[in-house]
Parts: sequence; structure tokens; C-alpha cells
Amino acid sequence: VPFQTAQVEKINMTIEAGKNHYSVYIGHHLWDSLLFQSEVKSKKIFIVTDEMVEKFYLKKFIDSLKDKYEINYFVLPPGESFKTVLMVEKIATRLLELNYSRDSTLVAFGGGVVGDLAGFLASIYKRGLSYVQIPTTLVAQTTAAVGGKTGVNHALLKNAMGTFYHPQCVIMDTAFLMSLDDRQFSNGLSEVIGYGLILDADFFYWLKSIIFDNTAREIQNLKKIVFHCCRLKKSIVEEDEQDNGRRAILNFGHTFGHAIESLTHYQSFLHGEAVAIGMRIALTLSQLLGWISVEEVQLVIDVLLKANLPVQLPQSITVNDLMTAIQKDKKNNENEQRFILLKSIGEAIISSRIPLELVRNAIESSYSFR
Ligand SMILES: NC(=O)c1ccc[n+]([C@@H]2O[C@H](COP(=O)([O-])OP(=O)(O)OC[C@H]3O[C@@H](n4cnc5c(N)ncnc54)[C@H](O)[C@@H]3O)[C@@H](O)[C@H]2O)c1
Repeated sequence: VPFQTAQVEKINMTIEAGKNHYSVYIGHHLWDSLLFQSEVKSKKIFIVTDEMVEKFYLKKFIDSLKDKYEINYFVLPPGESFKTVLMVEKIATRLLELNYSRDSTLVAFGGGVVGDLAGFLASIYKRGLSYVQIPTTLVAQTTAAVGGKTGVNHALLKNAMGTFYHPQCVIMDTAFLMSLDDRQFSNGLSEVIGYGLILDADFFYWLKSIIFDNTAREIQNLKKIVFHCCRLKKSIVEEDEQDNGRRAILNFGHTFGHAIESLTHYQSFLHGEAVAIGMRIALTLSQLLGWISVEEVQLVIDVLLKANLPVQLPQSITVNDLMTAIQKDKKNNENEQRFILLKSIGEAIISSRIPLELVRNAIESSYSFR
């Protein structure tokens, strides 16, 4: 149970040429009300969480803070389908009824859905109040809670509305990851493997070794995964907070992944699973361009499979469907289709001059394991 003191690693984030400074704390059994109190000086806090996190942790969490703060909370049903403006408005109604002002603090306690939604609300409620991220999934600890992107979905587009709004601090306790089921853990590993592929070959080969040894969930390895991903994300976000340039490389596999999610109506794959198939297509495309070898593509496919991630396009999606769907990607500029590809393992590039015939070929080769 993540409610004891532990060794803490700290990463200082400096965003927008120094205008935003905040700390990201990482540790196992790190949860400690003293750490929270050292950061949060308001009298009233409001926790946004979901039913799963409530079941595992909410009572203990509140008990650890209730002597110091006036606490209220809102529990969302779990899942992506509740990351909506409607939910934002419902929570805002509670905040207004309970007289929450701009000097109160919102606490996002949950996975990426809770983090994105609570962050969005924090950025607009009375034109902005402080919020703290306490991420509880591997996805949230390695990507969603760092970098200040908030947002909600629209029926026509995922993350259609959002803001850039940084938390006051992020407290990451890897002990929360112990209660994730295997599928959710693998879902998170997909993005983690992606970091290695785009930014850090040594990290990728280290991940390969712990995935093949089945030790990725060991505490030391979990801490290293979360810490290293946050360091990598920090380096990208500090360089390009508003996602106008290099931050786009974090979308490796996502153009195809988003299209696969939408073509399967968000029913067949979790996001990380669709991204795993998307990364496989992007790898094959990189290989067709002569940048990486057939052996390297196969190695990554083997790592993804060992991590219990899918790598094959389902037969229900045709090449034409996918070609049409990727053209709707939010990351496209007005006139050009951009692809995030690998020059080598550990080095991504953004390219808008890829012959569409090669893209078709890469998709055609991705219905099989090899
Ligand atoms: N803001 C960003 O930069 C960014 C980056 C990546 C992803 N995201 C967003 O993050 C969301 C996906 O995040 P996610 O994968 O964490 O999804 P999620 O928040 O839906 O959590 C996944 C599931 O795990 C459950 N859960 C949460 N913590 C748990 C715990 N400790 N033990 C057991 N179960 C637990 C949740 O109830 C849910 O059912 C998407 O909406 C995506 O758009 C945002």
C-alpha cells in the first residue's frame, strides 16, 4: 500500500523560458502527506478521481490529509468515454456549490483520463486554479502527467479541446502501479518502448532485457522506467512546450495508432495497443526508406510481442481505410501529411516528404507477425 515514506527522486521542470517551475517527485511508497503539504498551501482541496482508484486508494488518501485540509471529491466512472466537457461542467458545478475559489487546489488522482480532465478544468475554472497531479497508471506516470497538456474528447475527435496548463507539482508513487492489471501495464509499456525507439537506444535495449526477463514490474525497474521516461519527456517539453516542432516525435506510431483506434470505434484496442501496431507500421516504413534494417524491425516486433502488445493490423481494416484515416490526423499541417519515423533505433525524424506508395507498402506488410 503506497502510504509510507520512501526515497524520493526529484526532477525540476522549467517550462516556457523559466516562467513555469515545478517539481516532479518519483519514488516507491513515496506517498507522504508531508511532501504534499510542503507543496500545497491552500486550505481547501478538491480531489478528482475515478471509481477504480477510489476502490483501491481514496479513503487512505483522504485520511492522510484530512487533518490539514478541507477536502471534497468527485469520482468519475472509469474510462475514456467520460473525458468530456459534460463531466468538466458537472465537476465545476460541485466546485461552485462548495464555494471553491482560485486559491483552492485541485488534485488529479488517477490515470491519464483523470489527469487530462482535471487539468483542463483547473485551467478554465474561474480562469485558472492550481492543480497537483498524482498519477496512478504507467501511462500517466510516464507520459500524461508530465508536460502540461490537458484536454477532453469530442464525439468527433479525441482530445479535441484542451489547453497547455502545468501543475503545481507532480507526485508519482510507483507503488500505485502494483494494482494495475496486466493489460493496463502492457498498455503503458507501449509508450515506454516508444521513448526508447525515438530518443534513447540504450534505454530501448535495457527495456528489451527486462521485458525478456519478465522483470519489468520489479520495483527497481519500475522506478527506473518512470524516472527515465520523465527525464526524456522533460527534455522534449522544455525545448518545445507548445508542440510546434520537435515535441511531435513523441507521436511516433500515433498517426497510425489513432486511425486504428477510430476505425475500430475505440472498442478493440487500448490506446497503447493501437500505438504498438502504429509503431510497427512506422518501423516498416522506416525500413522501406532504407533507414533501419529488417533485423531491427523484427527485434522491435519481438519486444512488443513479449510485452503482450499487438503488432498486426486486424483484417477488418483495409489499406484504403487506413490511408484515408491517417489524413485526418490532428497533427497534420493544412497541406501536408507528416510522419514520425526512425533514422535508427534511438533517433526519430519528422518527415513530410514520404511517397504515399511506400506508406501503402508498409501498411500492406503489417497484417502479419513478420
Ligand atoms: N496529457 C498528455 O500529454 C497525455 C499523454 C498520453 C496520454 N494522455 C491521455 O491519457 C489517457 C490514458 O491514460 P490511462 O491509460 O492512464 O487511462 P485511464 O485513466 O483510463 O486509466 C486506465 C484504467 O486504469 C484504472 N486505474 C487507474 N489507476 C489504477 C491503479 N493504480 N490500479 C488499478 N487500476 C487503475 C482506471 O480506472 C482505468 O480503468 C487518454 O485519455 C490519453 O489521451 C494524455
